[in-house]
Amino acid sequence: DEQQYDYDVLVIGAGPGGYVAAIRAAQLGLRTACAESRETLGGTCLNVGCIPSKAMLHASELYDHAANGAMAKLGIKTQVELDLETMHGQRRDAVKQLTGGIEYLFKKNKVTWLKGRAAFQDAHSVTVGDQRVTARNIVIATGSSVTALPGVTIDQQVVVDSTGALELPRVPEHMVVIGGGVIGLELGSVWRRLGAKVTCVEFLDQILPGFDGDIRKESNKIFKKQGIEFKLSTKVTNVAVEGGKAVLTLEPAQGGEATTLEADCVLVSIGRRPNTDGLNLEAAGLATNQRGQVEIDHDFRTKVDGIWAIGDVVPGPMLAHKAEDEGIAVAENIAGQHGIVNHDVIPSVVYTWPEIAGVGLTEEVARERGEVKVGKFPMMANSRAKTNHEPDGFVKVIADAKTDRVLGVWCIATVGGTMIAQAAQAMEFGATSEDIAYTCHAHPTHSEAIKEAAMAVTGKPIHI
Ligand code: FAD
Ligand code: NAI
Repeated sequence: DEQQYDYDVLVIGAGPGGYVAAIRAAQLGLRTACAESRETLGGTCLNVGCIPSKAMLHASELYDHAANGAMAKLGIKTQVELDLETMHGQRRDAVKQLTGGIEYLFKKNKVTWLKGRAAFQDAHSVTVGDQRVTARNIVIATGSSVTALPGVTIDQQVVVDSTGALELPRVPEHMVVIGGGVIGLELGSVWRRLGAKVTCVEFLDQILPGFDGDIRKESNKIFKKQGIEFKLSTKVTNVAVEGGKAVLTLEPAQGGEATTLEADCVLVSIGRRPNTDGLNLEAAGLATNQRGQVEIDHDFRTKVDGIWAIGDVVPGPMLAHKAEDEGIAVAENIAGQHGIVNHDVIPSVVYTWPEIAGVGLTEEVARERGEVKVGKFPMMANSRAKTNHEPDGFVKVIADAKTDRVLGVWCIATVGGTMIAQAAQAMEFGATSEDIAYTCHAHPTHSEAIKEAAMAVTGKPIHI
């Protein structure tokens, strides 16, 4: 019974999945500990992911607006100078405050932080450093790490991963980004804005796999216009580093003649893989699937009773908000409640300028599943975007042709990440495109473009 275990719940990993699970478990009255091997709480997201990347994106965006003449167009003349050290300082401050905030929340909620690496001994006990602890329930929330490119060594000087790319001490002259996904585009944008020439090499024939087709095409156009060069359908077969320079060997994805490309910085951003090394899953009777993930059922249970898993280590999108929601749900399930995450409605945002956001099905997938109606509205025709000189992008609403139920919403807009929340909420409530079209939206806001795209589903927007 309960008293034979040190804890009711032991969470392994204090990222957005793990720390949220631990706090919710404690709020529900469970004796909770969380093992984390990093010096600070918050996982990838707070330490080397979402937060520091957004700190650099925000600062570099303001710099770019000042330096590229966008502010001058509004009547603000500036003489711009980059102080990269201060920019890095404010990034570190943001991380410090937020990771410290989680430590405060652990204390406030009486979650015990076990410092060190956890490894299973059996299904109910783990070692954390040289400590042995037992728990009735164990939640695996160990997150993910960078996927290596075979034959390419990340030295964090010339060849960097996202962590190195957040901390570059100098603006590179030429940065080559391997992988046109979320990290490549966000961090490529940061250094492009600060003065680097950026080339993005993508294996597929278009950037941002998983996003809606129109959105991928339009994003590519916008990034090109901003000065990022793309080599699509291209693979990197070798990276040779010598004297602070890299020479990349490129080949067409389907094979063919090789070319070379020189760079003083190479960012490897070809995806992330689940963290299970050293966790000793076998001792608990668990194994990973072919993709290295821990498999779970709808309630986040693994196949071993009492062991649960959430976040980047399980199948599904590797996103902080998805991990957080799973953290809440798993704690509620452990407490005997009914924790639910609707995996059909997980928004996805790329925090570039403009932002690229979507929720639900892409038009391609929706059409595979049945008949659909699509409404589009360009940001150029949105009064607020136009007034702010933010003409790029559009909103797209995809609805079921018969029921009019909204199946997906996609947008490129400067505040697309904020706009997409209303689409997610509408879909969570089972909205039709008509429901959105007849909801009063404040004027003048970028969000009116969602209303107009919804009106366009049945062919009657006003402003275009
Ligand atoms: P993690 O955050 O990876 O946390 C897992 C923690 O477990 C780590 O701290 C690790 O040290 C610890 N750990 C692992 N093994 C053990 C062990 N055996 N013992 C003890 N501790 C262990 N997502 C978004 O939604 N929005 C964004 O803007 C965004 N930006 C990103 C930018 C970058 C550069 C990167 C790399 C990622 C970004 N992500 C973003 C993804 C996001 O960071 C992850 O989806 C999220 O952190 C996953 O949370 P998690 O709790 O599953 O794992
Ligand atoms: P990603 O999966 O988004 O993109 C990787 C890209 O690299 C893909 O376009 C893929 O086709 C390409 N690729 C793969 N192998 C390649 C090769 N050998 N050569 C050239 N291209 C290759 O992965 P990324 O950008 O590394 O990000 C990892 C994870 O972190 C993502 O799953 C994402 O969910 C998360 N993340 C989320 C952010 C956000 O929500 N704003 C920001 C940053 C990361």
